[in-house]
Amino acid sequence: MQRWALEQRATGRRIGCVPTMGCLHEGHLSLVRCALTRADRVVLTLFVNPTQFGPSEDFSRYPRTVERDIELCRAAGVHAVFLPQAIDMYAADHSVYITEERLGTGLCGASRPGHFRGVCTIVAKLFNLVLPHVAVFGQKDYQQAAIIRRLVRDLNFPVEIVVAPIVREPDGLALSSRNRYLSADERRRALGLSRALRSAQEALNAGQTDGAALCMRLREVLTADGLRVDYVAAIDPDTLEPIAQLRKGVVIALAAFAGQTRLIDNVALG
Ligand code: PAJ
Repeated sequence: MQRWALEQRATGRRIGCVPTMGCLHEGHLSLVRCALTRADRVVLTLFVNPTQFGPSEDFSRYPRTVERDIELCRAAGVHAVFLPQAIDMYAADHSVYITEERLGTGLCGASRPGHFRGVCTIVAKLFNLVLPHVAVFGQKDYQQAAIIRRLVRDLNFPVEIVVAPIVREPDGLALSSRNRYLSADERRRALGLSRALRSAQEALNAGQTDGAALCMRLREVLTADGLRVDYVAAIDPDTLEPIAQLRKGVVIALAAFAGQTRLIDNVALG
């Protein structure tokens, strides 16, 4: 991978990277299209990264659809798919990790200890292998994108980070590889996440400015929809700190379980 990347760089080409765990959908493909406008060669990485899954999480059953993913990449104009094996990425006695110590403690970091350590470590490794000029991530994983920006800033990676908007189903559900786990009934309930975010915007429009009160209200809405709430937070878009006073630009982020499936979504209030 590195040799290919160095060859591309030697001929003056710009490399764009789209890191994924596969089971590709339109959300991933929107990142590819974004990368194609910013680079001459686009590499999609496809690796279900074991270090970002907790011991009781879905690593072993995470959906794997490699053949189909490769076809989708071909059709989308991806120049190279990097598809490493776990044993090539992590030596049996690997012992170096990267931890981000501020942005990753709350929200998903609180309920998934070690998750962002795994994400930072694999993203740094992928950057060292793909040597991209630009890498594209989705706003769907808002906290992840913020942490990766911080990683690149604080460790001086020479990579431009671009964050692309959330792609949704026509009914509002944010696309996710994990949507495959949902039964018909859970799929219906899962609509509660995007519905709650729309009602957050409506509440702001109607003059609600109390962040904590809004989050309480959204918890009720989600629970009434049959979801088990992990968190609902009104956060500063940069620091990810909870904010008391709602205003334009504040991000509402939430995570909730539909059955056993944990789903996340967010919106920047307009
Ligand atoms: P994965 O969940 O496969 O997501 C890969 C990229 O696609 C992420 O940047 C994510 O934010 C983006 N994405 C997912 N659903 C999206 C949607 N509906 N709209 C727009 N973008 C969407 O995130 C990971 O993998 C991993 O943590 C990874 C960064 C690859 C490290 O292992």
